[in-house]
Amino acid sequence: MKSTLVQQKFNTLFNEEATTIVRSPGRINLIGEHIDYNDGFVLPASIDKEIVLAIAPNTIDGICTLYAADFNDTFTFSLSNLEPTSKGWPNYVLGVIVELNKAGYQIKPFNCVFGGNIPTGAGLSSSAAVECGIAFALNEIFGLGLTKLQIVQFSKQAENNFVGVNCGIMDQFASTFGKAHHVIKLDCKSLDYEYFPFQMAGYDIVLCDTGVKHSLGDSEYNTRRQECDSAIAVLKEKYPSITSFRDVTLSQIQSITDLLPTKTIDRATYVVQEIKRVSDASILLNKNDLEGFGQLMYQCHEGLSKLYEVSCIELDFLKNLAFESGQVTGSRMMGGGFGGCTINLVKKENTATFIDAAIIAYQEKFKKALKTYIVAITDGTSMVG
Ligand code: GLA
Repeated sequence: MKSTLVQQKFNTLFNEEATTIVRSPGRINLIGEHIDYNDGFVLPASIDKEIVLAIAPNTIDGICTLYAADFNDTFTFSLSNLEPTSKGWPNYVLGVIVELNKAGYQIKPFNCVFGGNIPTGAGLSSSAAVECGIAFALNEIFGLGLTKLQIVQFSKQAENNFVGVNCGIMDQFASTFGKAHHVIKLDCKSLDYEYFPFQMAGYDIVLCDTGVKHSLGDSEYNTRRQECDSAIAVLKEKYPSITSFRDVTLSQIQSITDLLPTKTIDRATYVVQEIKRVSDASILLNKNDLEGFGQLMYQCHEGLSKLYEVSCIELDFLKNLAFESGQVTGSRMMGGGFGGCTINLVKKENTATFIDAAIIAYQEKFKKALKTYIVAITDGTSMVG
């Protein structure tokens, strides 16, 4: 939804102009999946799929009203009663307020309209975009003095504590710290980061959206985290010098196979392999070797599908289709999994043929329309205008 439409809606609903307009993007992740919460490195970027928020303090009646344009739905609440709601979508806003309150930040009544073009449940982090967008907007209108990193951390805590998904920091970090034409290399252990220029000359990033919503994902996601936690606990016990998965070798994992269920060993194996892959991928990116980079994307998918078991038949089908076409440099499932999108690195001359073939094959196989998006890398959460 365009920012002018969000502003107009605000005017209509509240009979005044919004004081602040904020744009907050979704994200892609080139590689480094399911390792943000395992102290790995990730390579995400914020994209031109975004939500726009129009917001202003409400000085009239002491309550807060939210309007989600994409759902044509309103939610009104009092700041003295911040309980999760079964409506779902307001929780991303309420959770941020709760976390800010816990840290001693005073939020006063406000009204907010938001809407955008990030497909929900597609693995593009629409929830992080809302969380970071509202944290950024409240920081502006109430002069809270938050740093960008605090915006990220309060947003992540909202997701962990209020929404109940024990996510890592990648999505909120990418949404807030994104930079046009760059990917972020984020060290999820120290939170150090650097921007890599992403030379896309000659390549497109194409997302293929399975249309499968990752409803199973939240509980499975939390289970994966527990499995990783139990593996690292056993490894630390046996090898006291290990501080996190970053220090673990594959042979150390082999040495504990009889102490843990096979699936837990598989999860740990994937994590160690993926941490190494991101390090190799960064070297290739530095050399602008996107062909080599693409091979690592394919390997990442194999690990996510077979060892980490967060893929689904639709995602596997799309990755295989990309691989077998011989026209796609790299392809893999992206984000938490169990649905959502594949991310494909495609030479521009192959993009149209690949997209056409994928749409036809997907329709034939699943009797369902495949949505595709060619995305651009943009700046992170920021003021509009
Ligand atoms: C979701 C989570 C992230 C990350 C990815 C998988 O998007 O929110 O923290 O763990 O899954 O890489």
